[in-house]
Amino acid sequence: MEKKLWGGRFSEGTDAFVEEFTESVSFDKELALYDIKGSIAHARMLGKQGIIPQEDAEKIIKGLEEIKREIEEGRFQWKKELEDVHMNIEKALTERIGEAGGRLHTGRSRNDQVITAFRLYLKEETQNIIQLLRELKKALLEKAKENVDIVMPAYTHLQRAQPVRLAHYFLAYLEAYNRDEERFSDTLKRIDQMPLGSGALAGVDFPIDREQTARELGFSEIMRNSMDATASRDVVIEFLSDAAICMSNLSRQSEDLIIWNSAEFSFVELPDKLTTGSSIMPQKKNPDVLELIRGKTGRVYGSLVALLTVVKGLPMAYNRDLQEDKEPVFDAVRTLKGSIIGMTKIIQGLKPRKDVMEKAAGGFALATDLANYLVRKGMPFRQAHHVVGQIVGYLTQQNRELESITLEELREFSDLFDEDALSILSPYHVADARNSYGGTAREQILKQIKYWEEKLK
Ligand code: ARG
Repeated sequence: MEKKLWGGRFSEGTDAFVEEFTESVSFDKELALYDIKGSIAHARMLGKQGIIPQEDAEKIIKGLEEIKREIEEGRFQWKKELEDVHMNIEKALTERIGEAGGRLHTGRSRNDQVITAFRLYLKEETQNIIQLLRELKKALLEKAKENVDIVMPAYTHLQRAQPVRLAHYFLAYLEAYNRDEERFSDTLKRIDQMPLGSGALAGVDFPIDREQTARELGFSEIMRNSMDATASRDVVIEFLSDAAICMSNLSRQSEDLIIWNSAEFSFVELPDKLTTGSSIMPQKKNPDVLELIRGKTGRVYGSLVALLTVVKGLPMAYNRDLQEDKEPVFDAVRTLKGSIIGMTKIIQGLKPRKDVMEKAAGGFALATDLANYLVRKGMPFRQAHHVVGQIVGYLTQQNRELESITLEELREFSDLFDEDALSILSPYHVADARNSYGGTAREQILKQIKYWEEKLK
């Protein structure tokens, strides 16, 4: 059995169940390189401040760098008996360099150590996520540019509502993912604060230099309050909430594309390489990537709720409950990154079917515009709505589309209809009529595209 680093006051070994139940190294080894980075900065500072002998600091740093290589090459032996990533590394260090290794933990506690490593990890992953969101935004912009001149019916209540240019749809999601990115960028400011140097909870009784460690670790700020620094996880919750919101957008778009890819809609075709077959039905080409993005959204929501629940009853300051902050985050990071990559590939490979979309964008989706025609001729909108409703009823009864109506027929419903009434019955005409700021007219779409081209350069 491994001797515990904290074993001094104990007269018997730890129960095997307790070891198994309390260990975290099986998952927190994901923080290993961040932990080593934190320890190297701490050791260098201890040496420079004369808190430990300079040569011991050098030995520690060399030893940690060696351990880092072993971990990177997969040669490092993790031991559950040593509880967590921090103690595995510290023990290995002492085995390699002897007594000097025992000086590393001077003026530090695992409580400030763990959240320092975690914040370094979160900082890097937040930057990775922001980068992936940028790629997704670029893919959407490209698709928007390719599809300015395709109209599709836009839906409310999943009923055909009004025609829009397909580009408008892609730009709508670009806006949503842009807000996701902004949320992560904003959270990053609060992640980027250093807890190291807070000790167990009360600060440190050695002349440490937190400016130096912050500089070496690349933190922009130093946390002002040692109790807050060791006990708070609200920033981690904020990160998970950004992730959950982002997943909700990805899931929602997945649902659109799953529907569009169905035989009933046939609005788009997904590339073969991004779909999978059925083991029993030979005709199937399934949108599994999209379904899994939608399905995995629940895990990320779950992570958020899990951590909110972990912290809700915790007395100040550190409690071991906080060890439960890691797995939900690791899982959310993996899930979110995979989902963004998956959606980016889908968007890039998506082939819209112009003929199908265009056809679906006509018909009764043009009804609002026929009503607005009457409004322009002086009829109050409510009355116009009623008149066109009657026209729709009349045609539906005869199983006819809106475009099939003649001027004579229109005049039976209102004598305000003139020759030009028939010419508005085209989805392109109708889309371009919506030339208000943010609308779907070609002119507005080109403006939006120009805006994003500038932004995403
Ligand atoms: N594995 C622990 C965690 O993740 C490290 C901190 C342990 N601190 C302590 N006082 N037992 O939170």
